[in-house]
Amino acid sequence: MKYLLPVVTAAIFLSSCGGGNDSQQKSESPSTEQPAQTANGNPSYDPNRGTGKFSNVEVAATVDAAKAEAGEKVYSVKCSSCHKLSDEKLVGPGWKGVTSRHTAAWVMNFITNPDEMLDKDPKAQAMLEICLVRMPNQNLSDEEAHNLFEFMRKNDGVK
Ligand code: HEC
Repeated sequence: MKYLLPVVTAAIFLSSCGGGNDSQQKSESPSTEQPAQTANGNPSYDPNRGTGKFSNVEVAATVDAAKAEAGEKVYSVKCSSCHKLSDEKLVGPGWKGVTSRHTAAWVMNFITNPDEMLDKDPKAQAMLEICLVRMPNQNLSDEEAHNLFEFMRKNDGVK
């Protein structure tokens, strides 16, 4: 058996110099495969989701009243200085219609991860061009992000 290995190696070596396309592919090492790029302009970037920890957020047909109420409290403390509930712009865009402009995951990623979103996301960058202020990270918990989204849905007329 120990004579077989050099023979096999020689056969691979010879065939890789044989000139055919087939044998050239076989001689390529699989370790040259690169992982998917995550840099800006990555074609696998999902603009409906944005970038951050949320991906498939389940949204019920009706608004969770308790969550919406909790969200409204966070809004008055952390968001109302820059966002109106109408469609009028203050520092940032008014929130009317915000839940139809974006998916739940996008909104929750944006509000918990604004810096990276403003660096990478086309919709966020378009807003920045109009508002000229980078929305600051408000250090929201996952729960607060969820509650805020319920409040936005209520504000958009979801029952
Ligand atoms: C200092 C001002 C400021 C504060 C405070 C602020 N935002 Fe913003 N927000 C902005 C700006 C400005 C934009 C537009 C994007 C940009 O330029 O960064 C924005 C954009 C948004 C958007 C997207 C709006 C759209 O129409 O698509 C959402 C959602 C949002 N903010 C949620 C929040 C939430 C939730 C809070 C509170 C926890 C908050 N913001 C606090 C300034 C602010």
